[in-house]
Amino acid sequence: MSTFALDPYLAGVAARVEAELREAAREGARGGPARLWEAISYALLAGGKRLRPALVCATAEAFGGDTGEGSLPLRFAASLEMIHTYSLVHDDLPSMDDDDLRRGRPTVHKAFDEATAVLAGDALQSLAFEHLLAGPPDDGRAPRLAVVLASGATRMVEGQSLDLQAETVPPGLEGVLDLQRRKTGALLAASVVGGAIAATGGDQGLGPAGLKLGLAFQIADDLLDLTATTADLGKRAGKDAAAGKATLPALLGVEEARRRADDYCEEALQAFAGLGERAEALRALARFVVSRRK
Ligand code: IPE
Ligand code: IPE
Ligand code: MG
Ligand code: MG
Ligand code: MG
Repeated sequence: MSTFALDPYLAGVAARVEAELREAAREGARGGPARLWEAISYALLAGGKRLRPALVCATAEAFGGDTGEGSLPLRFAASLEMIHTYSLVHDDLPSMDDDDLRRGRPTVHKAFDEATAVLAGDALQSLAFEHLLAGPPDDGRAPRLAVVLASGATRMVEGQSLDLQAETVPPGLEGVLDLQRRKTGALLAASVVGGAIAATGGDQGLGPAGLKLGLAFQIADDLLDLTATTADLGKRAGKDAAAGKATLPALLGVEEARRRADDYCEEALQAFAGLGERAEALRALARFVVSRRK
């Protein structure tokens, strides 16, 4: 078993990416409407695991990339976290999952108002691309990363649409996996693919492993909704069944869902096995996707 110290690794990425997010929000707030930018900062700087940025950095490092301050992987990681944060702000809206708690505090539409939450999400989406593409000129990696980010974000929205439709028309096992691959898998796949592109210029064939990690991550999220507490999660536990969400635990039971999450994680780990010692953080993160408690 690996002895890799994941907590300090996650804390290090969070500190670097949050410095970049804070600066982007501060820049935007200069001259922009105060209420909108307060909502954007509130959403962006509320903690969160910063798992996607960590996956970007760990993948880039597995190929020898620098992920320090000012690096392209870190810039991409911050952009991806903006897209992820926008997805959470909109996911929590009354017209979607109708949640009042996120990352241990009131959701954006509760702390501000619904229109501000819609607009903060909209702005976070465009800010992500502005942030990524306004960096120093490079050999064409940033535009390629923008395509990865854009297609991941579009797949995520497709998944969210399917997730809501599934509340009234249950989709069956293949349908659930398809919607989860889109709503969550796509942005986790974008993390590892983007990390590889930022470091090497190519995707290193990591898309399929990223999608498997994403499936494992969403199954773990659905298991935590059933088994963890609101206090541990920082978001309301036990809501999926009441909303009629299409999840693997609902379809197959907790034991079988957990087994499948572990299997997807194992398959992703196999894809990372050949990457050697520099991929230790990446492998530790893959294990964390299913072992996490929040
Ligand atoms: C929650 O994502 C949304 C899902 C895709 C299940 P995270 O569990 O990564 O949320 P934060 O960023 O840590 O708050
Ligand atoms: C959300 O899935 C996936 C997104 C694209 C935001 P969930 O609806 O299960 O995420 P939580 O449980 O609210 O974080
Ligand atoms: Mg949802
Ligand atoms: Mg939700
Ligand atoms: Mg959930």
